[in-house]
Amino acid sequence: MQATPLYASNCQITGTNDYKDIKDSDIVVIAAGFARKPGMSRTDLLDKNAVIIKEVCQGIKKYMPKGIAIVATNPLDTIAYLAYKMLGFPHNKVIGMAGMLDTSRFKAFIAQKLKISANDVETIVLGGHGKFMVPMPEHTQIKGKPITNYLNPKEIESLVKRTRNAGAEIVALLKTGSAYYAAAAAIVDMIEAILQDSKKIVPASAYLNGEYGYTDMFIGVPVRLGKLGVEEVIELELAKNEKDLLDVSARHVEKNKQLLGLS
Ligand code: 2OP
Repeated sequence: MQATPLYASNCQITGTNDYKDIKDSDIVVIAAGFARKPGMSRTDLLDKNAVIIKEVCQGIKKYMPKGIAIVATNPLDTIAYLAYKMLGFPHNKVIGMAGMLDTSRFKAFIAQKLKISANDVETIVLGGHGKFMVPMPEHTQIKGKPITNYLNPKEIESLVKRTRNAGAEIVALLKTGSAYYAAAAAIVDMIEAILQDSKKIVPASAYLNGEYGYTDMFIGVPVRLGKLGVEEVIELELAKNEKDLLDVSARHVEKNKQLLGLS
């Protein structure tokens, strides 16, 4: 709130612990939960965060029976699915935030390596938000030119690896919490796309009903965001190796769902 004048914003902010203050909101962001500590994987948070999310969803449902929920709690794709089940919202109205964060990281690392503007990097990271996420070098271009024009396979692989590990990189530095700044910036972008009905295409964890060959699960894919939430899941053409990597990631997400007894 103290920074709003610096952003030329007239937005009002209210702090509360009471669910009734979200009554009839258009959008709720679920960020509650434990964060990782050094050495932990996102999956290590599964049971503890599932308990929290169940309680949070009951509070939301009571005062906001309809609207859009953006989920940021880890392990992201499984918790997004759990929130979808608990809230009872239509599947297009529950969206997990991770792909924008992972994509932003990949872009930033490429830009840093090439000493170029990250705004000139076009790329996407798909899959579950975890160690099997799928940065897509084959879908990476610098102002229309393939990244392979600029970097060799070893250099690309090292940026892919850093992207997969980028959350842990921050956890190792913070020691008592996980990344929040880039994550919050990504959520703001998603909220703007929804409230402004901009139809912007972003990577996000969305409910799939056969797209990419997956059914009844949340996983990171490109989606079109508008006032209805996820208005379309965009199916990219994937090379065989990309689809194989996405399958590995999907199996991991499915396994977490099973651990929670959700499938
Ligand atoms: C991250 O990747 C916290 O999962 C989040 O930083």
